[in-house]
Amino acid sequence: MLRSLLIVTPVLLVLTILYLRRRYPEPHLDWSEIDLQSTTFPPEFLWGVATAAHQVEGNLRNNWSSFEESEGLEKSGIACDHWNLWREDYDLLTELGVTSYRLSIEWSRLEPSPGRWDPAAFQVYSEMIDDLIRREIRPVVTLHHFSHPEWWEKKGGFSKKENILDFRLYCERVFDTLSDRVDVWCTINEPVVFSSMGYTLGKFPPGSRSIGKTITVMRNLMHAHAEVYYSLKSRNPDVRIGMAKNITHFDPLRRWSPIDWAAARALDWLWNGSWQRGIHTGRMLGATIPNLKNSLDFIGLNYYTHFLTGLFIPTAGELKFAKRENETLTEFGYPQYAEGLSRAIRHAAAYSVPIEITENGVADASDSLRPQHLARHLWIVSDAIRQGYDIRSYHHWTLMDNFEWAEGYQMKFGLYEVDRSNQVRIMRPSGSLYREIIQSNVKR
Ligand code: FCB
Repeated sequence: MLRSLLIVTPVLLVLTILYLRRRYPEPHLDWSEIDLQSTTFPPEFLWGVATAAHQVEGNLRNNWSSFEESEGLEKSGIACDHWNLWREDYDLLTELGVTSYRLSIEWSRLEPSPGRWDPAAFQVYSEMIDDLIRREIRPVVTLHHFSHPEWWEKKGGFSKKENILDFRLYCERVFDTLSDRVDVWCTINEPVVFSSMGYTLGKFPPGSRSIGKTITVMRNLMHAHAEVYYSLKSRNPDVRIGMAKNITHFDPLRRWSPIDWAAARALDWLWNGSWQRGIHTGRMLGATIPNLKNSLDFIGLNYYTHFLTGLFIPTAGELKFAKRENETLTEFGYPQYAEGLSRAIRHAAAYSVPIEITENGVADASDSLRPQHLARHLWIVSDAIRQGYDIRSYHHWTLMDNFEWAEGYQMKFGLYEVDRSNQVRIMRPSGSLYREIIQSNVKR
């Protein structure tokens, strides 16, 4: 008995690994063979950039500003002073020639204390939307992009299911103000990043370190998404509502190691698979979520990288990323792997709704990687469209250097560089490259 086990187990392991290697390939292209100019996009394809309120607006009092203080992080402070300079910043959108712009709404501005609403702040967001439309730029509005009022955080935020009601009421107010002009909505930005960074790694507010809480928050975020989707669609069925989902691949560091495969597949399930299954079945991480099934009109795809996963999965402190030999590490420390975008598109397509690429970009202060980053990722998008994938837009992260959460102002993702001493924005070479690409594809 023992002898046959000793023979059968390794054979089974080897067969499993061979199966996994075939089932989950990790393609790498020889980019020198590829003509990056050979792209085609349909005329209705939309070209955009994305930002988020807490990263650009400035002078916010919310869960993030409190966390910056309590953790001794770099303070977001005045950020890009976008709340005052938004008209000038919209001139940059016009200068780039974008046809779509993804922005987020800051709940703490609209409801600074429970039940007290600020009409002046609603008015500013409303003017922003009018101005975008006047510029023939489609607004894409995100309702929750990592930040919310501090009073709501104190109640437990998304860790308490009963708090979802406050979130829904806020979403309904914003929707009632803007949905006569905004057709495309994202409920929540990157729910897995929000929950894992805030509740497992402790690098985002509230700085918790608990796997159990992380799972609860993940489920509650899906509850919140479903509830908001259902409520907003019943107020106006003509809009399109989705969520912005970070799709990161977890590839085994050593493709021969059963341990690395086990870790990679488990993380992939938690990060990607379980969310997709949730939308298809209405069940997620062991819970049935009312109204979740099919609660998406599009999937927002945020793509940055793949994680090479080994035995030691970091649960705290600095994240250190491995890379393949042919890959470059970006300033953020993760590898540049444009090929992963085509895998992410395939995964997003399995949600069975159209895809909007809601984020993709690179931290690169000297702009030495970004031009190539843009060219490669757009080639991948064009190739996927050629293969028949229904991709409606591409939004580059981001318009201008801004507050990069736990990393503060160190990470520079902007097509425009921002001089923080005087708020002057200067277009980077990659900005003018993006403008040329847009110009050659958009017939105004
Ligand atoms: C994404 C976030 C976005 C920005 C980029 C670099 O995870 O959605 O706000 O910080 O990363």
